[in-house]
Amino acid sequence: MPLVAPSILAADFANLGEEVRKVSDAGADFIHVDVMDGIFVPNITVGPSMVKAIRGFSKLPFIVHLMITHPENHVKAFAESGSDIIEVHIEAEQDLRSTIRLIHDLGKKVGLAVNPPTPIESAFPYLKDIDMLLVMSVNPGFGGQTFIPGVLPKIPKAKEEMRRQGYVVPVEIDGGITPETGEPSARAGADILAAGTSVFKAPDVREAIRRLRECGASKL
Ligand code: DX5
Ligand code: ZN
Repeated sequence: MPLVAPSILAADFANLGEEVRKVSDAGADFIHVDVMDGIFVPNITVGPSMVKAIRGFSKLPFIVHLMITHPENHVKAFAESGSDIIEVHIEAEQDLRSTIRLIHDLGKKVGLAVNPPTPIESAFPYLKDIDMLLVMSVNPGFGGQTFIPGVLPKIPKAKEEMRRQGYVVPVEIDGGITPETGEPSARAGADILAAGTSVFKAPDVREAIRRLRECGASKL
């Protein structure tokens, strides 16, 4: 069964600490923080000081999804603010190998994110050097978008290549994840479901997380 990473992009920003506490108490496995710079993506969200401010509200690992250009200039600040897994985009302007090394040198885990139009094969040369693969199921920039089912074949392709290389890391899927889209995602092999709207806008957050965790499980 997949793990669940609520994306605080859909939370109440006036009460972000309490929102993080709420999903942690409701059974989440990670906290997913979306960082946008207005350049790599059109939107702007939060920075390291916000990660630091909310860090104390949960003991869960923080996945910090950097949708920013030149992430190498900022990974130190995010590491020091309490991020556990730092995700960078393969499409972002940077020397990816040195960014990966830098994150590891800071003692943090590396996630590599791949946008919908980017072929998954472009991540293959890096699979042995990363701790998580993030398959984007929307074009990043905004919460509440519609899931793109065409990305799903990327998951078994990546898993097969990982097995071939003898090093398998978890695959997270992010964007438009609901119990309905989480189901085919988990069946395709997604290990972690990142979900903003379907968790934070749900009438019952605990129930929303429970339904996501049951995705892909045999209902017999
Ligand atoms: C997209 C972000 C996602 C997304 C999740 O740019 O990386 O984390 O906002 O939100 P929902 O689940 O609402 O698509
Ligand atoms: Zn995200």
